[in-house]
Amino acid sequence: MRGKKLPFTNEQLEAIVANFPTPFHIYDEKGMVEFARYFNECFSWNEGFKEYYAIKAAPNPYLMKILHQQGFGIDCSSLAELVLAEKVGLRGEEIMFTSNDTPAEEFQKAMELGAIINLDDISHIDYIEQHVGIPELVCFRYNPGALKGGNVIIGNPEDSKYGFTREQLFEGYKRLSEKGVKRFGIHTMVASNELDPDYFIETAEIVFDTIVDIHKELGVRFEFANLGGGIGIPYKSEHKPVDLKKVSDGIKERYNELIVANGLDPLKIFFESGRVITGPFGFLVAKVLHLKETYKKYVGLDASMHNLMRPAMYGAYHHITIMGKEEKPHNQLYDVTGSLCENNDKFAINRLLPEVEKGDIVVIHDAGAHGHSMGFNYNGKLRSAELLLRENGEVIQIRRKETLDDYFATVDFNALPDFQ
Ligand SMILES: Cc1ncc(COP(=O)(O)O)c(C=O)c1O
Repeated sequence: MRGKKLPFTNEQLEAIVANFPTPFHIYDEKGMVEFARYFNECFSWNEGFKEYYAIKAAPNPYLMKILHQQGFGIDCSSLAELVLAEKVGLRGEEIMFTSNDTPAEEFQKAMELGAIINLDDISHIDYIEQHVGIPELVCFRYNPGALKGGNVIIGNPEDSKYGFTREQLFEGYKRLSEKGVKRFGIHTMVASNELDPDYFIETAEIVFDTIVDIHKELGVRFEFANLGGGIGIPYKSEHKPVDLKKVSDGIKERYNELIVANGLDPLKIFFESGRVITGPFGFLVAKVLHLKETYKKYVGLDASMHNLMRPAMYGAYHHITIMGKEEKPHNQLYDVTGSLCENNDKFAINRLLPEVEKGDIVVIHDAGAHGHSMGFNYNGKLRSAELLLRENGEVIQIRRKETLDDYFATVDFNALPDFQ
């Protein structure tokens, strides 16, 4: 078969589409679970290793429950995400709260749940103390600035709004030690969608070096190093997935050289990945509504960028399969569009596809992270449903599609007749 693998056959998908109208996102439970097990296995050398799934990637409680059963915690960045974690049944240090520009009520909720609080800025020490008190365990987000090059999505660390400078880190840990805090963590996240395994090993080395230096200067001992998210996925068929075993082996080597050699073990390694956990296991399924030929050839879908905005937002590539036509010659050049009144509402530009017909079922790959979750209602578009393909082949709905009533729920039409 050309291109990328799918967890269902054409016939299976036709049966699903007969039950659930397009467009929808469908997630492959088997793929997600197998990957979660592999991730844990790669880092099993590290006692206390934990992946905190960054729920912003696909904030669905059913997916979260599946991942929690594999031992994952959850990384939240807002009040709604904290409440979601709570609803899934997570409490305490199974929750990481990595936020920025944070309002007091979000810190309040994180404290109430006993989450690990990761502060984004040195001024937040006073802010959190004033509004909710100093947590027992505190983590700071480190921005290594010029020490580390960034990448396209997250930008250069020095231009990035996130985190403490190195000097601020030392000052922050000193101030907290003076306030009697005894439990510390450190966090960094300097890349997004990075495919080079060495990138993560270098990042770990920078963090471990920093831990050694802070310990030497301040006597602070760290419980964990959270290496953030940012593990990329092979959106293009010719890309290779990140070799997690290589990442783990490289991090273990640096751990022995820096952490163990300086008597600073045990140190728990955490990640807060989102994309790699659900991205490859989610698919946006749509139907061809219209075909149009002007200066170019267009395939108009019943999905729009409100279902998946990555191509429009970052020019991101998402592989497209026209179901049942995988083996046909891909010799037609199309733009694949949605219906928003925005010319960038395109899933693909100048993409070679087989001859497309109205009614064809179209699968957009790697839509499981930052896909449905980035959805929006511009042009009155309604968010679509989310489905789960279970390990036994059953398909269940894990979020219904929005209705017009949902869309209008925040407006009081009853007051309109009296409004002059
Ligand atoms: C603070 C933080 N942690 C984790 C993640 C997850 O990153 P990814 O989905 O690239 O793994 C993000 C993504 O935006 C983030 O901002």
